[in-house]
Formats: sequence, structure tokens, C-alpha cells
Amino acid sequence: MKIAIYPGSFDPVTNGHKDIIDRGSRLFDKLIVAVLENPRKVPLFTTEERLEMLKAVAHSYSNVDVDAFCGLLITYAKLKNAQIIIKGLRAMSDFEFEFQMALVNRKLDPRLETMFMMTNNRYAFLSSSIVKEIAFYGGDICELVPSEVYNQVLRKIRDVNSGNV
Ligand code: PNS
Repeated sequence: MKIAIYPGSFDPVTNGHKDIIDRGSRLFDKLIVAVLENPRKVPLFTTEERLEMLKAVAHSYSNVDVDAFCGLLITYAKLKNAQIIIKGLRAMSDFEFEFQMALVNRKLDPRLETMFMMTNNRYAFLSSSIVKEIAFYGGDICELVPSEVYNQVLRKIRDVNSGNV
């Protein structure tokens, strides 16, 4: 059984992430979308909120699980019996960091393979940070985030902008 992990911050999930989930789900027997609980980063959305949004997006895929992890990705992958890490690659700017991460992970666990999926060119410009930036200044993010999470993202941004968070 081929099990792949798609790790990330997903703060929040974007249409670019959804595209990778969609394509990844067709390549592997099981795809685990794993939210990193990173003590060194302060996310806009709590881990629970990010899980909730990802679950709404992954709802229609029977072979996609959503989970959270902390610590090293290779440790989590071992725990889940996963053989593959998948990463979305947008531009050259992603490459250097992702190349380093792939080599570090291979050094730590040579049996774990990292596979890169080229972004759909419709989403080449898209990132969670860009979504937050646009939404914070009142821009339209309708085509940037999955419809399942659109209202939740807007609600959070509105709360933050009005000082309720
Ligand atoms: O969406 P992001 O923030 O670009 O995702 C980064 C992520 C979660 C894929 C990466 O930071 C990660 O794998 N972190 C877990 C810790 C780890 O294993 N690091 C690699 C060895 S130093």
C-alpha cells in the first residue's frame, strides 16, 4: 500500500493546496494531509481551525486523511508507515528550500522518498501568505481559497481586523 504524506502549515488551505490534494489522491492508495504544529511560528489559524478547514476540503476523497503532527516529519512518516512525502513546487524561489529539505529528510531517513508536484499554472502565484495579505486589505479571495473554507477565512480576518482575536 503506497502511503504519501502532504505536510504543510496550511494557514489557511488555498486552491493551490487543494489542487495538490486532488492530484495526490489519484496517485497514492492513501494520502495524509499533515498540519505542522510549529512552536516557532505563530499561525493566524489555530491547529484545530486548520484541521477543520482541511477536513472540509478533503471530505469528498475517501483515501485522504487529515492530521496534525509536531517534531520531525521523518518521525511522523515512520509512525504512519508512509513511504513518500509530496510537496507542491511553484517557482524557482521554492526550489532551493525544498531541495535542501528533501536532502535533509533523505539523510535522516533514506527510505523516505520526496516527490514534487509542479503547481497547476493557475496557482503558481498563490500562497497562504498572499491570501492573508489580500484578505486583510479587503481584496477578493473568492478564487484563491476553496469554497468550503471561504467564509471561515473571511470571518477570521474580520475578527482580527476588528480586534476580536
Ligand atoms: O507550508 P510550509 O510552512 O512551507 O511547510 C513546511 C513543512 C511543515 C513541510 C516543514 O517545515 C516540515 O516538514 N517541518 C517539520 C520539521 C522537519 O522535519 N524539518 C526537516 C528537518 S530539519
